[in-house]
Amino acid sequence: MTEEMNLNTEDFVNFDDVAEKEKELAAKAEKIEQDKLLPPDPEALLEVRHLKKYFTLKKTLMGKTLASLKAVDDVSFKIKPGETLGIVGESGCGKTTMGRTVLKLHQPTEGQVFFEGVDIAKYTPKQMRELRTKMQIVFQDPYSSLPPRSTVGDILAEPVKVHKIVPPEQVKEYVLKIMEQCGLRDYYYERYPHEFSGGQRQRICIARALAVSPKLVVCDEPVSALDVSIQAQIINLLKKLQKERQLTYLFISHDLSVVKYISDKIGVMYLGSMVEFGNKEEIFNNPLHPYTNALFSAVPNPNPDEKGNRILLKGDIPSPANPPMGCKFHTRCPKAMEICKHIEPAYTEQEPGHFVACHCYQEK
Ligand SMILES: Nc1ncnc2c1ncn2[C@@H]1O[C@H](COP(=O)(O)OP(=O)(O)OP(=O)(O)O)[C@@H](O)[C@H]1O
Ligand code: SF4
Ligand SMILES: [Mg+2]
Repeated sequence: MTEEMNLNTEDFVNFDDVAEKEKELAAKAEKIEQDKLLPPDPEALLEVRHLKKYFTLKKTLMGKTLASLKAVDDVSFKIKPGETLGIVGESGCGKTTMGRTVLKLHQPTEGQVFFEGVDIAKYTPKQMRELRTKMQIVFQDPYSSLPPRSTVGDILAEPVKVHKIVPPEQVKEYVLKIMEQCGLRDYYYERYPHEFSGGQRQRICIARALAVSPKLVVCDEPVSALDVSIQAQIINLLKKLQKERQLTYLFISHDLSVVKYISDKIGVMYLGSMVEFGNKEEIFNNPLHPYTNALFSAVPNPNPDEKGNRILLKGDIPSPANPPMGCKFHTRCPKAMEICKHIEPAYTEQEPGHFVACHCYQEK
C-alpha cells in the first residue's frame, strides 16, 4: 500500500520560491537527460517520454518567444500492442494536443516518442509520410472530416492507392471488404457523405483510418458528437476491429463510462500534465490523485444501495499560459498543503505500473 506523507507546514514559512524553482528545474532537466539514455521498452508499441508541446503566444521581432502556452507539459507513458489507453481530463487539459503531437501532426517542443522502438520525435515530414500508414487518427466530428464532393468509394480508395496497400486492380475489392468490416453496405460505395447520418459517417471515418492497415489509432472523442443511441454501436465496432486487427488505441474522451468500458489503461491529465496513470482497475478502484478522485466521483454509480460521494472542485481551471507554481492542481485541490504551492510533485511509480504526481505519496 502507498503511504501518505507527513509534511510540516512550518518548513515553508520562509520559503524561497525562486531558488526552489531553479533547483526543481535543474533536477527535472537531469532526470530527462538520464531517461534519454535508457533504451526503449521492447514490449511497447508506443513509448512517450517527457513529451512537451508549447504553443508560442508572443514573439519579439527577432523571433524570440516572449510568452508560450504549455498545452502538453512533460507527459510520459507506454502502450503495448493491442492495448487501449484511455486519456481523460477536463476540457483544455491538452488531450487533443497530446494525441496530435504523438502522431507528429504537431512538432513536439521536447521529448521522445518511440514507435516500434524508434524515436520519431525528430522525424522529418518525409520520414513521417512513410510511417503514416502505421499511425492514424479518427476525429470527433464526422461531419467536417469527410470531403463533401467525393464518394465513399473514392474517399476510402484514395489512401489505399497513395500508399500502394494493394495492387491497383484489387483496390475496389479491398475497400468493399473494409466497408463490410465497418458495417457499411456495399452500395454506399457510390454515395456521398451528406447522404449519411453521424453514426454512418463515423463508420466511414473509421474505415478510412483502417484502410491503410495501421497499428496505432488515436481516437479523439470519436463518439462525443453522436447520439447516445449510436455511441454504443461505434464503441463496439472499435472493439471488434481491435480484436480482429490487433489494433492499439489511444482513446481520448470526456466520458468516463466509455473510457471505463474500452480501456485497458487510463491516463488522467490536468493542465497539460499526466497526474495519474495505471491499469483501468487500479485507477477506478484505487485512485490516488485528488484530481482523479474528484473526476471519478462524478460518474453515476449503477448500484442504488451505494451512495455516491461527489467531490466538487472549487474554482476554475487555471490558464495553461500561466499555470500555478508548485503542483498545478493546488488552487483547486481539497488536500492541498503548503508544500504544494511551492514544489511540483514528482511523477512516481507507487505500485508496479501505477504512477501518480502528488505530494501525498512518498517518492520511491
Ligand atoms: N494551435 C494552438 N495554438 C495555441 N493554443 C492552442 C492550440 N491548440 C490548442 N491550444 C490550447 O492548448 C490547450 C489544450 O488544448 P486541447 O485542445 O489539446 O485540449 P483538450 O483536452 O483536447 O480539450 P477538449 O476536451 O475541449 O477537446 C488549450 O488551452 C488550447 O486553447
Ligand atoms: S500535490 Fe498537493 S495540491 Fe497537488 S494533488 Fe497532491 S495534495 Fe493536491
Ligand atoms: Mg480535444
